[in-house]
Formats: sequence, structure tokens, C-alpha cells
Amino acid sequence: MADIKLSKRLSTAASYVRSGAFVADIGTDHAYLPIHLVLSGVAKGALASDINEGPIKTAKENIAKYGLADKINAQIANGLDGVEAYKPTDILICGMGGELIAQILDASSYVKSEGVRLILQPMTSVAELREYLSNGFSTIAENVVCEDGKIYQIICAEYDGLVHNYSSAELELGKRNIESKITEFYVLLDSVIAKKQKKLNGLRLGGYETDELEKEIKELEGLR
Ligand SMILES: C[S@@+](CC[C@H](N)C(=O)[O-])C[C@H]1O[C@@H](n2cnc3c(N)ncnc32)[C@H](O)[C@@H]1O
Repeated sequence: MADIKLSKRLSTAASYVRSGAFVADIGTDHAYLPIHLVLSGVAKGALASDINEGPIKTAKENIAKYGLADKINAQIANGLDGVEAYKPTDILICGMGGELIAQILDASSYVKSEGVRLILQPMTSVAELREYLSNGFSTIAENVVCEDGKIYQIICAEYDGLVHNYSSAELELGKRNIESKITEFYVLLDSVIAKKQKKLNGLRLGGYETDELEKEIKELEGLR
């Protein structure tokens, strides 16, 4: 059967999976990511995991449709519970809030195993996720994707046990994104500045302290 056509958001996340990987896709829903990765020959096998029954039913149907039941296991689990039994090398967590992704990572010691790569695509709270990662994880790669009027960030990280210090702009936008300055980075930058400017206006109207936020906006504007 022909390969699955992934969205730009998911295909960019998939591009960070290493050749020969055993993948764990947490919050898999439809299982498109593991199906694509196995069908394309990038992954030798996969675990498709989700906390809810409905998505796992859909995942199993899709896996069967593509004849991949011998290569992709689908299971109901909370976050990374039980993932170590599969010894995944590359763990994908996409399409969830950044705080939930951080909670899922924090509840698992497996993510600190040598050679394990994390590929994360938070829908919200990206700065909070980066803040969590800054304590022990190094960022291998980052990317920004614009699709259907939305902006997505993808973070690829590995455990190194070190503390990484980032500025507020680096937490929000990603140090590597700031360095690479691709076209989409400027779309992200403008949207973050606009959101912070709106918050600043609200704080000013309410007579609140704005020094810190003004400083953040200035730092962001300096990146234009
Ligand atoms: C919006 S979907 C994202 C699906 C797919 N990963 C993507 O990016 O297109 C989020 C999925 O995460 C699952 N989920 C939410 N909390 C979870 C948790 N703690 N552990 C595992 N899966 C979870 C939901 O059931 C849902 O299927």
C-alpha cells in the first residue's frame, strides 16, 4: 500500500527519526507517524501508544490496513508507562500541550537512557517545555513549521544531565531556531511579539508592573 501522506508538522517531526530506529509514538491517535516511519523503511519497528481507547482502536485499524501488525504494537498506556520493555531509540510526542509533554517526560526515567532521542512537538506552552528540558537535556535540533495558518515548533533533544541556561527569548523561540533564522522563524517571532504586546497592553490598563515584560519584548524585537 502507498505510504501515508503526513502533514508538514508530522513529516518534519518524522524527519528527526534516525534510520534503523525503534520508535515509540506517545499519544499516537491515528498511528500515522509510526505507519509512515515503518513503511518508508526508516524505522525497523514501532510502539504506538495512547491513553485513550478510541485512538488505539483507530491506530489498530490503520496498522492492520497497512499490513504492519507484525512491526507496530499498539497499546493503551499513560505517557511513557511500560515503554522500556520495547527499548525504543527514538520517542515521538507530538500534538500535545508542552506542559503535558514535560509531565510525561518527568514521570519516566527511560528518557534519560543513553542514545535515546526525543522528538517533541508541543501545541502550546513551548517555553515551559524548553524550561523543563533545560534541566538535563540538550537540544540537538529545532524547527518551525507553518501550516494552515498555524505555527508549530519541533524540538529534538537528548539527555546529557547538564543544566542549560536560556534567555526568555531562547525559551520562547529556541536557541537553534534563533541561530538558523529560517523564513518561518520570523513568522513565529512576529506572532510571539504580538501576543506579548497584547498582554503588555492589558497589564498597563490594569496598572500592573510591566518592566519585565517590556524587557522581554525588547529582546524579541532585537531579533527581527
Ligand atoms: C491531538 S492528538 C495528537 C495525535 C498525534 N500525535 C498528532 O500529533 O497528530 C493527542 C493524543 O494524545 C493522547 N494523550 C493525551 N494524554 C496522553 C497521555 N498522558 N498519554 C498518552 N497519550 C495521551 C490523546 O488521547 C490523543 O490521541
